[in-house]
Amino acid sequence: MTIRKAISSDVSLLYTLEQELFTIDNYPLSRGSFIYHVRNNLIYVAEIEGKVVGYLLVLIKRTKAKLYSIGVKEIYRGRKISQKLLEVTSKELISLGFKQLLLEVRTDNKVAIALYKKAGFKVVKELRAFYKDGCDAYLMELEYK
Ligand SMILES: CC(C)(COP(=O)(O)OP(=O)(O)OC[C@H]1O[C@@H](n2cnc3c(N)ncnc32)[C@H](O)[C@@H]1OP(=O)(O)O)[C@@H](O)C(=O)NCCC(=O)NCCS
Repeated sequence: MTIRKAISSDVSLLYTLEQELFTIDNYPLSRGSFIYHVRNNLIYVAEIEGKVVGYLLVLIKRTKAKLYSIGVKEIYRGRKISQKLLEVTSKELISLGFKQLLLEVRTDNKVAIALYKKAGFKVVKELRAFYKDGCDAYLMELEYK
């Protein structure tokens, strides 16, 4: 498996993967959003035999970094691909001088919460009815020391 930064020619594949990962109610990113994020934020992709099988997007705003999205194709799940994506991203963020990585996650997304906890994220706040369907969110933080 290779983890590398996304480039503009990955946008079509990222967009296709996004449709597979997130339904309309989960606001999948548009093609235009991916073009924007490849240029202005941090996207890492995981590749197996030349195929993009997962990605992670971190939004960078001045001194704050926020994990916006992470996903792996269903048949490749459970192989620590997300864990690796998070490790590589954290290394990069630390080298850029970031002190923490934040995220919001649906409280009903148990798999994602388990992934984040394993990576060292802690719940710092519960955000009531954060999502349009009324679902609460956890604000989680990974501190870099
Ligand atoms: C959440 C998701 C990204 C995890 O990706 P993954 O590559 O399969 O995860 P990993 O193999 O790296 O797992 C790392 C850790 O996460 C947790 N985890 C992953 N899958 C899990 C599952 N099905 N049940 C419980 N814990 C799980 C475990 O702690 C695991 O460590 P372990 O294998 O030592 O127990 C993947 O399930 C996915 O794409 N889901 C749909 C999109 C989504 O909900 N994204 C998050 C919100 S943006």
